[in-house]
Amino acid sequence: MNDQDIVHLHQAYELAKLRRGFCSPNPSVGAVIVKNNKILATGYHQGAGSPHAEPDALKKLNNSAQGATLYVTLEPCCHFGRTPPCTNAIIKAGIQRVVYGFHDPNPLVAGKGEAQLKAAGITCDYLPLPEITHFYESYHYWQTTKKPFITAKIALSLDGKIAGKSGEPIQITGEALKEFTHYSRQNSDAILTTAKTIIQDDPRLNVRTEDEVIAKPLYILDTALTLQTTAKIFKTAKSVTIFYTDDKNHDSERLEALAAEGATCVAMKSNQHGLDLNQVISHIGQDGIHDLWIEAGGKCFSAFLREKLLKKAYIYIAPKWIGEGQMAFLPEFNLDLQSQPLTWQQVGEDVMCEVCW
Ligand SMILES: NC(=O)c1ccc[n+]([C@@H]2O[C@H](COP(=O)([O-])OP(=O)(O)OC[C@H]3O[C@@H](n4cnc5c(N)ncnc54)[C@H](OP(=O)(O)O)[C@@H]3O)[C@@H](O)[C@H]2O)c1
Repeated sequence: MNDQDIVHLHQAYELAKLRRGFCSPNPSVGAVIVKNNKILATGYHQGAGSPHAEPDALKKLNNSAQGATLYVTLEPCCHFGRTPPCTNAIIKAGIQRVVYGFHDPNPLVAGKGEAQLKAAGITCDYLPLPEITHFYESYHYWQTTKKPFITAKIALSLDGKIAGKSGEPIQITGEALKEFTHYSRQNSDAILTTAKTIIQDDPRLNVRTEDEVIAKPLYILDTALTLQTTAKIFKTAKSVTIFYTDDKNHDSERLEALAAEGATCVAMKSNQHGLDLNQVISHIGQDGIHDLWIEAGGKCFSAFLREKLLKKAYIYIAPKWIGEGQMAFLPEFNLDLQSQPLTWQQVGEDVMCEVCW
């Protein structure tokens, strides 16, 4: 392996980044086909059901790439899913060498993809790059646990306030962190919030960048089915799933009204804290969500912390003093931050603390 291998595999990674947050239950993958140090074609996976990155690149060469090297971020698949095995297409196209950046933890692939290519006489090299290993962290986590990799954010003022006196929304952080929030929503497969936050804020919870508006699947904790059917999210989310408790007799009209807005209502067990979050998370994992982004109030944030379900948290802190009587962020337990890796960075006028578990 040489420096050019690193350069081309990194190019494949840049392509994989384009569809992060849009491919679940599949991972996002990028591919580059190179011969004599010249890029012949590139490809990436658009989303489940569409061609994988390798056939997407190969089709641009009429499926003929005699003697070329294929750089691909993930080990090529070798099984029939919604599309045929990539290994077949690679062998048929005459690819001489494959360089890939991550072992596919999917038990249907896991080493078998590489073995099939080698059996067909193709040189196959695994080249781990830190950025690619990091990129597939959530996919690996989901494949091995069937739970989503969960990231939660909470925005606080310097005096620890998250909302106004009666929970009304207040603009806490500045434009740069707002942009980061939209970027994080975009890179996640789905967003989770609470009916409480929707009732207070009536947010859109979609992705809004300078160029586009993107709808995302939305999950909502709503124990007693209190969500108003006029909420904006019914127009702005790609899909809406509401979790409510199975231990009450719910008004069937409420369920019908929410279903009429396109929501899927799922009954969950509850405990002394509210909905059983482990059951909620297993359900979301079964939907094929690798990356889940949580945006809600302090109770939801601390509940996920208490249940040890968070893999990452972003605590935004703004240089503002909101004042007495406003809603404070009060985690209901002691958080041991001593043993956790913490990273601080300034983002625009605010600071952001990243905690990983
Ligand atoms: N600063 C920020 O980053 C930010 C972000 C979003 C929202 N907010 C603000 O946060 C305020 C709401 O905060 P909040 O702390 O009152 O509410 P929250 O964290 O948004 O939601 C908490 C609610 O979730 C429901 N829930 C269901 N199962 C649960 C469980 N196992 N554990 C905990 N909660 C469970 C409960 O309501 P039910 O039993 O009724 O279902 C609970 O009261 C809003 O006013 C909004 O403006 C701030």
